[in-house]
Amino acid sequence: MQFYAFVAPGLEEIAQREIAAHLAAERQGQQRGVVFFATDAPPQALLELGTTEDVFALVARGPVAAGREGLAQAGAFVAESPLFADAVGAQRRARPKRIKRITYRIVAQRRSGQQRYVRQEMRRALQQAVAWRFPRWKYVAERALLEVWALEAAGELLCGVRLSDQTMRHRTYKVAQVEASLRPTVARALVLLSEPADGDVFLDPMCGAGTILIERGLHGRYAQLLGGDIRPAAVAATRTNIGPRYKPIAVRQWDARDLPLADGSVDRVVCNLPFGKKMGERQALRPLYEGFAREVARVLKPGGVAVCLTSERTLLAKAFGAWPQLYLERTFPVEVLGQPAFCCKLKKLAEY
Ligand SMILES: C[S@@+](CC[C@H](N)C(=O)[O-])C[C@H]1O[C@@H](n2cnc3c(N)ncnc32)[C@H](O)[C@@H]1O
Repeated sequence: MQFYAFVAPGLEEIAQREIAAHLAAERQGQQRGVVFFATDAPPQALLELGTTEDVFALVARGPVAAGREGLAQAGAFVAESPLFADAVGAQRRARPKRIKRITYRIVAQRRSGQQRYVRQEMRRALQQAVAWRFPRWKYVAERALLEVWALEAAGELLCGVRLSDQTMRHRTYKVAQVEASLRPTVARALVLLSEPADGDVFLDPMCGAGTILIERGLHGRYAQLLGGDIRPAAVAATRTNIGPRYKPIAVRQWDARDLPLADGSVDRVVCNLPFGKKMGERQALRPLYEGFAREVARVLKPGGVAVCLTSERTLLAKAFGAWPQLYLERTFPVEVLGQPAFCCKLKKLAEY
């Protein structure tokens, strides 16, 4: 069966690797923020993915014109799709529920903005197509059993039945919030980029609400989780969100520029650094980035990996540039909730 998933733009490759490993899936290409794949795995298994924001069973994919004829083309794709019944079957298996009658709603999204019709018109065109195809179904505006999502991007319509719900992107553990908390799916991607292994001592020195630590815990086995933040409120939020899970774990109030950890004692560091929008804020970040880089260079074991997310790429590169035992393996752009940022992966040379 064919599926697709939404991911934060820039993380398509990491998501594809997770999907291939978790679902024994075959890649079917990708576009900005969307990955396509085929798998025979049970549909419930798709709901266990950590890097995806939403997953869908494919109904239709094909070119649609920007003019009003695009509405009829989209309707025809959906009405005549040979994949529709199987996509509905996948949703019913992924989220089994006893029902008398199928209720559905349509979500229409678009990226390009070139069309000579509005989103509501696309939604209505698709609603008509679904009503024609499944006359016994009932359209409802909210709390539908089935959601048919359509995305128009670069002249192509992508339509699918949504398998996930909001708990895939938001999870259920974030009871306590802090400002600038990271999207769990992005945190999971950073964790996967760090090449996690069963025996890891894993550190997030600026843990905020604890998202990265929790995503590392959810990923699988480790030896120890370590986290801290300079703000007592953030430490408290992390402890609340973690609850009694993910042992052994130690969360402390500390300054990431002066960590109470031994030299060469950590296998993996993953951190989402504070970043500023104004010039003054940027200047103030310099000593923090320099102190953080010094501590990462010190506490990482030889061969260890550090993964950082920031929009201050130059500041981070300069700070790490002072430590020749660390080399920058990869840096690539990521869009987090519409904001441009960078993901940087560093390794500590094995002979240090
Ligand atoms: C972008 S937030 C991290 C958000 C976190 N990844 C999450 O998902 O909630 C950056 C965090 O760094 C913390 N921080 C700033 N300066 C610090 C320092 N010197 N030592 C430790 N933490 C610091 C802030 O209090 C803030 O919680």
